[in-house]
Amino acid sequence: MRKFCSDLEIERKIDSLLRKMTVEEKAGQLNQVGPSPVGGFEISLEEKQKMLAEGKITEEEFDRFLSEEKWDEQEDDIRTGRVGSFLGVRDARRCNHLQKIAVEQSRLGIPLLFGMDVIHGHRTMFPIPLAESCSWDETLFERTAQAAAVEAAADGIHWTFAPMLDIARDARWGRIAEGAGEDPYLASRYAAAKVRGFQGDDLTDPARILACAKHFIAYGAAIGGRDYNSADISLQTLWEVYMPPFIAACESGVATYMAAFNDLNGIPCSVNSYLLQDVLRDKLGFEGLVVSDAGSIWECIAHGVAADRKDAGKQALIAGIAIDMVSRCYLDFVPDMVLSGEIPEERLDEAVRQVLRLKYAKGLFDQPYTDETLEEKVTLCPEHRALARDAARKSMVLLKNNGILPMKKDCKIAVVGELSDIGSEMLGTWTLYGKGEETVTFIDALKTQNISFVYAPCCGVETPLDRQALQAVIIDADVVIAMVGELRDMSGEASSLSYIGLAGDQDEMLRLIKESNKPLVTVLVNGRPMAVGNAVSYSDAVLEAWHGGTETGNAIVDILFGDYNPSARLTTTFPNASGECPIYYNHVSTGRPTSDVRHSCKYIDSPLKPLYPFGYGLSYTTYTYNNLEVKALEDTLEVIVEVMNDGNMAGEETVQLYVQDVLASRARPVRELKGFKKICLQPGELQKVSLSVPVNSLGFYNDSMEYIVEPGEFKIYVGHDSEAELCQSVVL
Ligand code: GLC
Repeated sequence: MRKFCSDLEIERKIDSLLRKMTVEEKAGQLNQVGPSPVGGFEISLEEKQKMLAEGKITEEEFDRFLSEEKWDEQEDDIRTGRVGSFLGVRDARRCNHLQKIAVEQSRLGIPLLFGMDVIHGHRTMFPIPLAESCSWDETLFERTAQAAAVEAAADGIHWTFAPMLDIARDARWGRIAEGAGEDPYLASRYAAAKVRGFQGDDLTDPARILACAKHFIAYGAAIGGRDYNSADISLQTLWEVYMPPFIAACESGVATYMAAFNDLNGIPCSVNSYLLQDVLRDKLGFEGLVVSDAGSIWECIAHGVAADRKDAGKQALIAGIAIDMVSRCYLDFVPDMVLSGEIPEERLDEAVRQVLRLKYAKGLFDQPYTDETLEEKVTLCPEHRALARDAARKSMVLLKNNGILPMKKDCKIAVVGELSDIGSEMLGTWTLYGKGEETVTFIDALKTQNISFVYAPCCGVETPLDRQALQAVIIDADVVIAMVGELRDMSGEASSLSYIGLAGDQDEMLRLIKESNKPLVTVLVNGRPMAVGNAVSYSDAVLEAWHGGTETGNAIVDILFGDYNPSARLTTTFPNASGECPIYYNHVSTGRPTSDVRHSCKYIDSPLKPLYPFGYGLSYTTYTYNNLEVKALEDTLEVIVEVMNDGNMAGEETVQLYVQDVLASRARPVRELKGFKKICLQPGELQKVSLSVPVNSLGFYNDSMEYIVEPGEFKIYVGHDSEAELCQSVVL
């Protein structure tokens, strides 16, 4: 892959188009509209009335909201060149209808871009990104993105606001569900794979869509895990932890970035010229386009850095935001500011150039319309369903197993927990068009696989426990399978939780099953790492199934009954308690490293170790690591290790390589993931696995923000997870 870049012939076409455009038409290209002014979400009548009362919308807009579909169409605005792109509008016929107006009825015929949040599937829903990241499978990351692109493109969409690349270390933050977890290295390989999957190597391919690296940047560093909160971090942390996946996306040719809602050290990302100019343009050489988040330009007033919408629009345009997502600050104020000289027209032209460059790169001037016959052929096709099932199986993490799994299909099974049979709750956050009735629940899968069972919901996230029903349904069972976790809207945007244990009576239900001495298999269906220590203690086995998408039920059955040997590994640390957040494996040692000593870095009311560490996951077989060799060559470390499957079942093992810079001029993390490789091993098979680590990747930023690799001792750990003990030292 190569960076998204300009092309001489296209630039000439853009020049000639720019010369013809009025200032109003230029501002129109920067205007992105959606079904509502807060970014594509349905808003209640009460909320509309409140927004009207607060002056956030005009009477005219209020009237238009009352007829939502009128708001979506905005045909007059398209005709007069006041709309450059849409957010959240789909359906090939509808998009073609609007496109026809732009191409055939507006003065210059500039085509529209249709953007959408295609985060983990479009109609066929794949596991939420946090789940899929636990597969550590770059081919899978790419394949699911490509399948999502095929379905979205057939639905008239040109551009997805994905991948979300925010490193997240705090499970209270609901959007931890949307990213690839806590590690910069893994998230970087995830980023590259997703950009490849969405964009392919020919952006004009009608089955591919433009990708968007978001949210730029450090949105996941929100203080307290509270969504939209400030991110206050050092530049070293910014570049060592949060920047890597965004750099990887740029190197992979991502076409767009999205600015984050948060302020970074006091400057909102939407008006942050350090980020949007110095970093993105000067350091990374990015030539694509930056879109604001929904209303994030207008929100600079609430941030207290813009006096009004005009000031916010001016700051954002000068800082480098090319498209204003739904706040209309550009449309309403930029033309006058340019005509008055308050904003140089060159600044406006640069933003318009980026938009036109994107539209040319996508091929929209040559082929603005979508083939309307495709949608029914590709949506939820058997290949996509099979991929969704494979992705779900590879994302589910076996957390505990005393040997009860895999289960036999002929034992007497009792199933409890209402999440066992609610398809829509399996789909997870950012499911815009996936449907519950198209989703395979656990109950559906047991039935289609002819496995006999008895079922009673007994309890749910918001449904109180029915003790009688529980006693009645488990009384004759050989084993109980309990599905517990979160509803899908408990994670994702605007879903931060102060308590990340199991809600309601779910723990109590598991405790009662434990008290009955019935063997218990607990299946977690959730969107974030959870403090599930109680559930684990009551259970003989625990499978982290996540919000696994359209084929969740089939994937759970495949694993519980041994048709698939679980291979997933956690990409976020699981805490013992909500109060341990933020918690992550790649922390520094501190002067009082965590230990049994009272006066050390720890909580005195919580265990020293997390519930489950980064990289952790069980299999139905076991793997042993031996004979670790590390050779320091000129600019790489060559690492070789022997891995043996010493169980009686074939399996996939993710060999993980961590590095510690033992002594440096700045405290360095006790471990940092610097390599991984997924291998398949038959029972008894031994493989020699080699990994190479560029020496240049072992550096850090010093006080002057220079990237340096200091000489000295480095410890290389290789094994099954971030607590691997097999280690070799090397001196560089
Ligand atoms: C939302 C999200 C962003 C999404 C956008 C459009 O508020 O922050 O991730 O792409 O609005 O829906």
